[in-house]
Amino acid sequence: MVRTRFCDVFGVDHPIVQGGMQWVGTAELVSAVANAGALGFLTALTQPTPEDLAKEIARCREMTDKPFGVNLTILPSINPPPYAEYRDVIVESGVPVVETAGFNPAEHLPTFQGGGVKVLHKCTSVRHAVKAQELGVDGISIDGFECAGHPGEDDIPGLVLIPAAADRVTIPMVASGGFGDARGLVAALALGADGINMGTRFVATQEAPVHENVKRAMVDNSERDTELIFRPLRNTARVASNTVSREVVSILDGGGEFEDVRELVAGNRGRTRVLEQGDTDGGIWSAGLVQGLIQDVPTVAELVSRIAGGADELINRRLAGLAG
Ligand SMILES: Cc1cc2nc3c(=O)[nH]c(=O)nc-3n(C[C@H](O)[C@H](O)[C@H](O)COP(=O)(O)O)c2cc1C
Repeated sequence: MVRTRFCDVFGVDHPIVQGGMQWVGTAELVSAVANAGALGFLTALTQPTPEDLAKEIARCREMTDKPFGVNLTILPSINPPPYAEYRDVIVESGVPVVETAGFNPAEHLPTFQGGGVKVLHKCTSVRHAVKAQELGVDGISIDGFECAGHPGEDDIPGLVLIPAAADRVTIPMVASGGFGDARGLVAALALGADGINMGTRFVATQEAPVHENVKRAMVDNSERDTELIFRPLRNTARVASNTVSREVVSILDGGGEFEDVRELVAGNRGRTRVLEQGDTDGGIWSAGLVQGLIQDVPTVAELVSRIAGGADELINRRLAGLAG
């Protein structure tokens, strides 16, 4: 099995991470990822209050005795959630690792470090990775332009972003964005990363708490079936292409303001109509280019063992056969 220093630092068997996912990163998925020997993150803000997060962590612990973490995503917001309270729950609950995303983690680092919580910081550029390393985080998750969610505004795909980051980052680093199979893991290792982070691929698993129609859509969709919304607002998000996301792109490209799309992009609309009720044209849902590589909906255990075992096979047979 492929083992890297990422496994040693973060206490997992496989160098495979399930990144935070709003509405999807619940105990069902995260415990399955932990039980498969990979590193899963509950998504703090999926829980309506910090107290609910404490309960979700406890619920996840009932489903696994393996380590798992919590994702804390901080994005610009008119009415920001009580981030410091979520942070304190993470520390007090004794979770061993936090995935920070969407912001410079400086403000929260002393509390995490004082509480013995390792910090895996997710960012989308080499400069932010270097900055986070200087601040003292324990690992970097570098998200390329292929990714679902927020790819940033630089548009650098993994083939360049990962080795460019690896040249500057000395702490353990996982590569993210577009990964879904053993070939991706081996490629990430070759590019200088210590493992991979996946979002979209984990949504198309049996345990992900989303409607079957969404999982089936990911199997049916190709690598061309995403849209980049909010580009003119410089807050780009990669989401599945559907009638709603295409309408959002068209309104904003035509000079519209956020107010003009507010209803269309409402998080609760995507959550209820798409993820719960299964209307894949009902609202916005995040998905990456890797949809083009998704052909089935396995259990998490099957997926992780397929990637870990496949990587081993690829390195020891196909690539070893090419050397010398
Ligand atoms: C449905 C969904 C929701 C997501 N929500 C978040 C989030 O709340 N916070 C975050 O940091 N990343 C979020 N992401 C991004 C993932 O954690 C991960 O970085 C990304 O999916 C990697 O790219 P991939 O989809 O190509 O694997 C989300 C991704 C998906 C698919």
